[in-house]
Amino acid sequence: MSHVLAFDIYGTLIAPHGIALELEKLIGEQASEFSRRWRDKQLEYTFRRGLMRQYVDFSVCTRQALDYCDTLFGTQLSEADKQHLLQHYARLPAFADVEPGLKSLRRNDIQMVAFSNGITRDVDGLLQQAGIRDFFTDIISVDEIHSYKPDPAVYQHCLSRVGTCAENCWLVSANPFDILGATAINMPTVWVRRDPHIAFDPWESRPTASIEQLTELISVIQNQG
Ligand code: LAC
Repeated sequence: MSHVLAFDIYGTLIAPHGIALELEKLIGEQASEFSRRWRDKQLEYTFRRGLMRQYVDFSVCTRQALDYCDTLFGTQLSEADKQHLLQHYARLPAFADVEPGLKSLRRNDIQMVAFSNGITRDVDGLLQQAGIRDFFTDIISVDEIHSYKPDPAVYQHCLSRVGTCAENCWLVSANPFDILGATAINMPTVWVRRDPHIAFDPWESRPTASIEQLTELISVIQNQG
């Protein structure tokens, strides 16, 4: 049976910190720290809402994390500024290695799906504007079961949507919590270590493979037979 690759979106294919350039125009030198805290808070809200069973969709977590950071940094962004930032969030760029990496996988007939915390419409829009939508046979969103990564149920949902067993479906993600979530249900994983300063969580398991660029992914998959 041939392998299927399930790709995380934010942080793996699409660069969330692309927003820092827009932020800089509004808040100057605080932009990069604000962008980092915004992303961390957005993810924290997904973890908390998953655990508390108080699901709201990912765009609400993003908006509430923006409001939180606005208060924390004392930046007093107007509603128009916030709407402007959120519109940009829907048009974030892909990392430079993504298109060549996906092309080499497609040349080798490897099936690829997008698998994200984002709602389907938002992920579809992001992939379209980045020019990479056509590489994916499907978009699988946690929104379909109203929970968040790393709830084991969302990885099980991904497998049932793909119609394959855990051993056959690889998760490709730059987010260590996502890698650990997939590993917990026995999916093989590839950690895309985009930032050399990021450490992998010292838990009981490690990714099956680690790469720095998506262009290295094809050889990892080919070596698995
Ligand atoms: C996603 C988040 C984890 O795309 O970045 O699912």
